[in-house]
Amino acid sequence: MTKPAIAFLACPDTLPGSPTRRPDAFEHDLLLEAIRTGLGDRADLHAIDWRAPMDQLTQYDLAYLGTPWDYTEAKDEFLERLEALEGAGVVVANPAEVIRWNADKLYLAELAARGAPSIPTLWPQSAGPAEVLAAFDHFGCDRVVLKRRVGAGAIGQDSFTRAAPPPPDWRIDQPAMIQPFLPAIQSEGEHSFIFVSGQFSHGLIKQAAQGDYRIQSLYGGIEVAVDPAPADRQAAEAVMAMLPFEAPPLYARIDMVRLDSGELAVIEAELIEPYLYPLQGAEFGPRMAEGMLARLG
Ligand SMILES: Nc1ncnc2c1ncn2[C@@H]1O[C@H](COP(=O)(O)OP(=O)(O)O)[C@@H](O)[C@H]1O
Ligand SMILES: [Mg+2]
Repeated sequence: MTKPAIAFLACPDTLPGSPTRRPDAFEHDLLLEAIRTGLGDRADLHAIDWRAPMDQLTQYDLAYLGTPWDYTEAKDEFLERLEALEGAGVVVANPAEVIRWNADKLYLAELAARGAPSIPTLWPQSAGPAEVLAAFDHFGCDRVVLKRRVGAGAIGQDSFTRAAPPPPDWRIDQPAMIQPFLPAIQSEGEHSFIFVSGQFSHGLIKQAAQGDYRIQSLYGGIEVAVDPAPADRQAAEAVMAMLPFEAPPLYARIDMVRLDSGELAVIEAELIEPYLYPLQGAEFGPRMAEGMLARLG
């Protein structure tokens, strides 16, 4: 059998040499390197733009959604592309079905209905100052966070307090979500639990820079490897068990934040193109390699 070829799908935000490469694209390099090392000489791994011509992409046996970070601006095109690849016989990981479910954060309401500890959330079709003021009253809180339902990397996100509400012309003109601001983000940080083929791989805590509340490296956030407390790890495993798919996805990152009750609540179940923090998980590369090769039969 010839050596399998695996595509690491990326985009101009992340590909080396691209004039629009983002400053946090070092995550692309680290992820690619960890998986490539894990694969060794058992498969070839190439980074390629997810918008590359189909006849190039269909040369691959498996397409891994590495760093296609700009999919949020072109969700339908992205999903069509993944489905076309599957139609052409390429194994897509995670599969298009999983991506479709995960691309709209309304899936969080589904997980909540299945019993996952959750952050209370309002789901307006668009939001302006009136929705923000109503949310303070609805949640009985003084600070809220507003996010896009289709979004990543905290882009297009805002946080307002009763003392500093949105200006009159402020709006999110797309389906949005409003949550109370959870102070544990700044005191404890956000937990990430990485799963490979359904098995817990490693955990970490992400902390925001002084004065910020967004934990992403782009805003100065840092991450620390942790061996999670058994109850915390079980909370993440319980979320994994609630995913509505027959087979566990190749990769998943369950992000959780502590509620005032002490319980960890799911803030995101990332199944599309999460950064999987390879530096915090020594076994991550080999595990991903095994998972990919297993999917190639
Ligand atoms: N309810 C919240 N309370 C406090 N901080 C929040 C809340 N929701 C989001 N954040 C902060 O904003 C970041 C981005 O939000 P998140 O829901 O993870 O969306 P995404 O990562 O897809 O942009 C989080 O990592 C966290 O730092
Ligand atoms: Mg997030």
